[in-house]
Amino acid sequence: MARTAKLELDGKTIELPVIEGTEGELAVDVQTLRAKTGYITYDDSYSNTGSCQSRITFIDGEKGILRYRGIPIEEMAETSSFVEAAYLLIFGKLPNEAELHRFSGLLTRYQMIHEDMKFHFEGFPHTGHPMAVLSSMINAAGCFIPELTGECDEECFEQQAARLLSQVRTLAAFSYRKTMGLPAIYPKKAYKYTENFLHMMFSDPDEDYEVNPVAVRALDLIFLLHADHEQNCSTATVRMVASSKANLFACASAGVCALWGPLHGGANQAVIEMLEEIRREGDDGTKFLDQVKHKEGGKRLMGFGHRVYKNYDPRAVIIKRYSDDVLRALGVKDPLLDIAKRLEDAALHDSYFLERKLYPNVDFYSGIIMRAIGIPLDMFTVIFAIGRMPGWIANFREVRENPEARIYRPRQVYQGPTKSAYVPIEKR
Ligand code: CMC
Repeated sequence: MARTAKLELDGKTIELPVIEGTEGELAVDVQTLRAKTGYITYDDSYSNTGSCQSRITFIDGEKGILRYRGIPIEEMAETSSFVEAAYLLIFGKLPNEAELHRFSGLLTRYQMIHEDMKFHFEGFPHTGHPMAVLSSMINAAGCFIPELTGECDEECFEQQAARLLSQVRTLAAFSYRKTMGLPAIYPKKAYKYTENFLHMMFSDPDEDYEVNPVAVRALDLIFLLHADHEQNCSTATVRMVASSKANLFACASAGVCALWGPLHGGANQAVIEMLEEIRREGDDGTKFLDQVKHKEGGKRLMGFGHRVYKNYDPRAVIIKRYSDDVLRALGVKDPLLDIAKRLEDAALHDSYFLERKLYPNVDFYSGIIMRAIGIPLDMFTVIFAIGRMPGWIANFREVRENPEARIYRPRQVYQGPTKSAYVPIEKR
């Protein structure tokens, strides 16, 4: 028999259906609550609201579990690649060789952006943040696909997904080159996804960047670890925009904006800025942690804490383990890595962080690896955006293919003035 929850309100008892997820997660379905009682539920900043039922990514924040379509992130990190993970997330299954070959072929086919797009880059000042440029250019890229706003069957969706996933990397690299005043470098067919990105970032017209396999593997892993993370701020934004039936590129562009903030994807840049500040001040981290604990100037230990994880973020465990190896293999000694480790150790022995269950998240160590590869600081969040693209595309698809989908439209509890008369300007 289907489970229900009973709610007593104004002397009436009403029954609400209970939904159970495949991993045993339970939810009370309140969709009929207002019709039955006149009440809405209130959950500012969505601490306890399931906004959808999804089949893409599973997180158990208490146990520190993350799985893409059921596959543990640790296994993906060990054996898979970013493009394969993208296929898994978007199409719901691991590709066989022919499928992977076909999808990789589409990524290559669509890697060039329309030549006229280069004029759009001209309009940005070189001081513009690459996330602003990326968001604008993704939306602009959509203008070059006339069929984007029409009906889209399976084949058309595959092409649009491949085009977006491939071009985000070209746009990101072009926007970096633009901010540096450097000529754009075109992608090469011979390169795979991540090495092509590094080539477009760091080659010059007169000299190809020497692609280092350690850097390629490290960046590919970073992309893979960021590929999806269920209903975070940017993915929820993408779903919200998708629910209005806006096109895929418009939704991804909105996702980039949501990701940019320092509490979300912007944290990877903020972590390095924080570590730099600690180093500049000659602090061993003690003074900084004191300021955080006393909430001085709203300071937070960036790269720590998570709405869902109340335990280690499994991505942080993988990245931390990997960061030592990458720096060693690249022959880089970064004093910020030592500061980060000291900070982590101090925080994990401090009651402030323990009581609040604040652990390192994915952003705590990822910036150290990106620095070692030579990625400039203001491109860190762009790297996150490239990595998150498969998750956004998969969530877009889920919304658009749900036959019961309706436009996302939260309600509110109004706390403003009650009915008041309009006062003409001369009487105010
Ligand atoms: N440093 C110090 N205190 C913190 C931190 C932190 N990083 N994070 C949370 N707290 C404290 C917060 O001040 C509050 O304390 P109190 O109970 O005394 O008021 C308590 O912990 C609960 O915090 P909250 O703000 O209600 O938690 P939240 O779930 O709304 O925020 C978060 C989650 C990730 C925004 C937050 O932990 C944070 O700001 N972390 C730093 C930024 C960061 O690293 N973001 C990346 C998240 S992972 C990548 C991604 O998916 O975007």
